[in-house]
Amino acid sequence: MILVAGGTGRLGTNVVGLLQARGLHVRVLTREPSRAAHLAKRGLNIVEGDVRDPTAVRRAVSGARTVISAIHGFPGTKDANPGTIDRDGNHNLIQAAREANVQHFVLMSAKGAAPDHPMDLMRMKYAAEQELMASGLTWTIMRPTSYMETWCEVLGRPLLEKGRTQVFGRGQNPINWVSTADVARFVEMAAVDGALHGQTLDIGGPDNLTMTDFVRVFKTESGADGKIGHMPPVAMRIGAIVASLVNPGMARQIRAGIVMDTAAMAFDASEVRRRYPSVPVTSLREVVRRDFVRAHDGQRNMPSVVTP
Ligand SMILES: NC(=O)c1ccc[n+]([C@@H]2O[C@H](COP(=O)([O-])OP(=O)(O)OC[C@H]3O[C@@H](n4cnc5c(N)ncnc54)[C@H](OP(=O)(O)O)[C@@H]3O)[C@@H](O)[C@H]2O)c1
Repeated sequence: MILVAGGTGRLGTNVVGLLQARGLHVRVLTREPSRAAHLAKRGLNIVEGDVRDPTAVRRAVSGARTVISAIHGFPGTKDANPGTIDRDGNHNLIQAAREANVQHFVLMSAKGAAPDHPMDLMRMKYAAEQELMASGLTWTIMRPTSYMETWCEVLGRPLLEKGRTQVFGRGQNPINWVSTADVARFVEMAAVDGALHGQTLDIGGPDNLTMTDFVRVFKTESGADGKIGHMPPVAMRIGAIVASLVNPGMARQIRAGIVMDTAAMAFDASEVRRRYPSVPVTSLREVVRRDFVRAHDGQRNMPSVVTP
């Protein structure tokens, strides 16, 4: 049995679909079983629990041969955030996996995870990576760049629903974006193929696009009309300080926006992609068409689940 913690999320939903299509027995850990309704139809084993609760985590891990952690505590709240989810939640999963003699642990980290990164998410992912590598478990670590599907919701959907969108900062910094459909294929490969044991994979997509370019592609492919606003960098810095007093999740999001506008975010993914030619290289155009344009009548869709 393969446990997918985070199996209800954007990436996790695709991973679960791919594993099930192989006839593998999959269990999903979720805080709220209704969030797994789209998965339960496929006859999955759903376990209710919170990764912050070691007892619930032990229950979920019991009987698993593989654990895939695709949990995400960003932007988060006071109690559920990168510290309590991405670091401590992964700690609970790793400890439970050790106790249960799990054969393989796949950790979803993020490209750029480092102990001195300005975003706490990246520092907490790094801490989880370090713990996993020192755990004695057989492991695989995935470090994807930013997900196209997530950012279509952040940058694109407001164009469809409000006729305008807001880019963080100047929007001129090249950023690598990858589709969760591609990342899910790597996770599937890690779950079924021992060749990825003990490997850390930096996974990126085909293009480095600025946020402004991203929105332009979204507009062109979806047919969305609307204005692109820019949140000025100085307003972001002040906003992050003010928000940190009342809304830590919003403060975290604004700080991430500052990093994405200013830090080196481009990545040449071609070396890893060449090594794994069976994994598709999905473009942003394809993602927007798949999730926001209905092929035959031109109507806009809700994001779809990628099936194998
Ligand atoms: N989004 C990106 O751009 C990006 C980039 C690089 C790496 N990643 C990493 O890729 C993975 C998947 O990201 P995603 O964007 O697909 O995630 P997502 O859609 O935000 O889903 C987050 C998942 O985490 C689970 N989760 C959160 N808090 C939890 C808790 N306290 N207890 C149990 N489960 C909890 C949620 O489950 P329930 O809500 O059902 O409880 C949900 O399934 C994550 O590890 C993320 O850090 C993401």
